[in-house]
Amino acid sequence: MAKDKIAYVCSNCGQESAKWIGKCPSCGQWNTFKEIRIANDSGTMAAKSAAQHVRTARNDANKPMRLRDISSKDDPRIDVHDGELNRVLGGGLVPGSIVLLGGEPGIGKSTLTLQTILNMPEKRILYVSGEESAHQLKMRAERIKPTSSQNDIPTERHPDIPTSRQNDNPTQQPNDNPTQQPNDNLLILTETSLEAIFTHIKEIQPEIVVIDSIQTIATEDVDSSPGSISQVRECAAALLRFAKSSGVPVILIGHINKEGTLAGPKILEHIVDTVIQFEGDQHYMYRILRAMKNRFGSTSELGIYEMRQNGLRQVSNPSELLLTQDHEGLSGIAISSAIEGVRPFLVETQALVSSAAYGTPQRSATGFDQRRLNMLLAVLEKRVGFKLMQKDVFLNIAGGLRVTDLAMDLSVIAAVLSSNVDTPIENGWCMAGEVGLSGEVRPVSRIEQRIAEAEKLGFQHIIIPKYNLQGLNTKKFQIELHPVRKVEEALRALFG
Ligand code: TYD
Ligand code: MG
Repeated sequence: MAKDKIAYVCSNCGQESAKWIGKCPSCGQWNTFKEIRIANDSGTMAAKSAAQHVRTARNDANKPMRLRDISSKDDPRIDVHDGELNRVLGGGLVPGSIVLLGGEPGIGKSTLTLQTILNMPEKRILYVSGEESAHQLKMRAERIKPTSSQNDIPTERHPDIPTSRQNDNPTQQPNDNPTQQPNDNLLILTETSLEAIFTHIKEIQPEIVVIDSIQTIATEDVDSSPGSISQVRECAAALLRFAKSSGVPVILIGHINKEGTLAGPKILEHIVDTVIQFEGDQHYMYRILRAMKNRFGSTSELGIYEMRQNGLRQVSNPSELLLTQDHEGLSGIAISSAIEGVRPFLVETQALVSSAAYGTPQRSATGFDQRRLNMLLAVLEKRVGFKLMQKDVFLNIAGGLRVTDLAMDLSVIAAVLSSNVDTPIENGWCMAGEVGLSGEVRPVSRIEQRIAEAEKLGFQHIIIPKYNLQGLNTKKFQIELHPVRKVEEALRALFG
């Protein structure tokens, strides 16, 4: 047998090198190179045989073809019965694709996945958990659907997380009876050995496989601990080969950690087809699902959920939740018509300006880029003539949302000023506009969508950049438009 190869891989970005180096040439991080052993025969035997067993199709797809001979028909998508997730995936799950769902621990990755597959009784799904016991999963499933007795998850075996290498059958065999209960098709397996997982896959022949999480499973081919770079890479590669050769979609769950000591999903990003990230503050109830990479759809899509007692709820109209219902007469609040992904929504910007108690004033922003806030404050100071040098400025985007849309600038400036002069902005006003360094209001993208959303939510006035008027059919809007060219004009419209 040929000897195994040794290579070095950056644990931050996945860059490979033949020898150890201190600083990664690709991402610039220090001391991230870790030794990995590459098994000579790439791919575990179990993966190959499982894939062959499930289907031997697609062999003829490997011949070179003329581009014009390839049918342009879209791959059929698997509907996951979740509007937000479907959209982020680009219209559903693609057969044979491998999706990585990443996020910090405790954000709700397992909840989202379990909830989704509970809603897909028509598919035979194998949910492999290396983190929780079947009993814990059952409790979670009951919490998600507290009243339904149909979402039973079998719990007879695996009372605890097995250490590894359990060659038992999964807790229940599939039932081919057409009158079966909705979730008879959902099989739970608590297993951490990749080889054992493939044995079960071979037996069950699932239509979808979920691995929760990739950091907990390990293959015998690599002799390092689960979660190390070489394990994560080898396991993901084996699962990728399985997905591609069998046409079964695989969903991988992966933890992100800040230190990068554990092999983060960064390394996996090159391997998988789609990377979706679940983000949000643990202390807020909103969760945002973002596509970071998608071979089958756009990466500008966004899904919004709310974490409830009984699972995640889709938020199909974010604006209504992101606005404080009653802020009449409060200063320091401005509403912006923002776009994240492809959806417009109205976001509340809150600011508090107070005299600095110490020499250096504090500037703090939550949900907004701090440097951008500093720049906007400098514009206010220099171009509009407001003295904020000796003031503390706190900025907050309501709802725990993180907004990167540049059209928020105008509302940030308006909120800061409103708090500074302690004058509330009248109800029914909102705005959208990017602010340049000389205090000019720059045009923003998709102005029509922004105006329409504001109008839909009952706003009567919207401040927009004057440049956006070009080619805009102003007749079709009921809402009053206030086109402005400079920040001063916007502030005059708001505060008189
Ligand atoms: P979980 O899905 O376990 O996170 P992850 O798999 O990303 O580590 O989510 C855990 C958090 O979600 C936990 O702090 C409790 C909360 N939660 C709810 O608020 N409501 C629910 O119905 C469930 C199942 C969890
Ligand atoms: Mg989990």
